[in-house]
Amino acid sequence: MRKILIIGGSRGIGNSLLNKLVDKNNVINISRVKPNLTHHNLTHHTCDILTDELPDLDELDSIIYSPGSINLKPISRLKLDDFRNDFEINVIGAVKTIQRYLPLLKKGDKPSIVLFSTVATKLGMPFHASVSAAKSAVEGLVKSLGAEFAPAIRINAIAPTVTDTDLASKILRNEKMIDMITERHPLKKFLNPDEVADLAEFLLSEKSASISGQVFNMDCGIVSFKI
Ligand SMILES: NC(=O)c1ccc[n+]([C@@H]2O[C@H](COP(=O)([O-])OP(=O)(O)OC[C@H]3O[C@@H](n4cnc5c(N)ncnc54)[C@H](OP(=O)(O)O)[C@@H]3O)[C@@H](O)[C@H]2O)c1
Repeated sequence: MRKILIIGGSRGIGNSLLNKLVDKNNVINISRVKPNLTHHNLTHHTCDILTDELPDLDELDSIIYSPGSINLKPISRLKLDDFRNDFEINVIGAVKTIQRYLPLLKKGDKPSIVLFSTVATKLGMPFHASVSAAKSAVEGLVKSLGAEFAPAIRINAIAPTVTDTDLASKILRNEKMIDMITERHPLKKFLNPDEVADLAEFLLSEKSASISGQVFNMDCGIVSFKI
């Protein structure tokens, strides 16, 4: 069985992925809260990625790093600490994870890493300066590390539009906002965490053996189409 580390499998997209993988893989989860699931293939470590030391693991084939932020404010209200905090959770946490487990990944079976960006790196939207800057750095990591790790380890990112998770609960806070967000997307929908987890599962698997260094827009058309 493959050994897959999920950083952030307690909620959201990471939790959907955890549920998809756990029957056929050994899943190791790291988050501050324990996932609401007990399974013989699941190991959990309670850990804050930013402040705690990451646990020792024996073996590892793949990593997905799911923590992120949606911190939307006009530039006049964004403090420098907002930029620092967004960079920490989106970029430094991912770097810390990759550096910590790189020796294990190098010995892994067809290793693969998946990170998360956002549509806001490609589509200029007001109030997204901090998250867009941090996620653009994630995309830079994917390009650079894709080259550095080839051919041994693949690394890709998914750049979703609004996804129905706790993180987006402020954006999807009422029926009016839900209708507005739905209408803004050319495919007249936004994402549910399961469909994003499906793409993550593909990128972690051997089905995507020829794909590395890529950022996949999962955008319901909002970046791709003007109609
Ligand atoms: N949802 C969207 O609309 C959307 C849109 C574009 C991009 N994205 C990106 O997609 C990714 C997944 O988003 P999501 O909506 O699934 O997020 P989410 O619902 O906030 O889930 C994040 C997961 O990361 C864990 N986590 C957060 N901070 C952590 C920390 N300091 N240490 C350890 N674990 C931590 C959380 O668990 P604990 O709280 O238990 O620690 C949780 O399991 C993020 O990178 C996000 O930026 C999301």
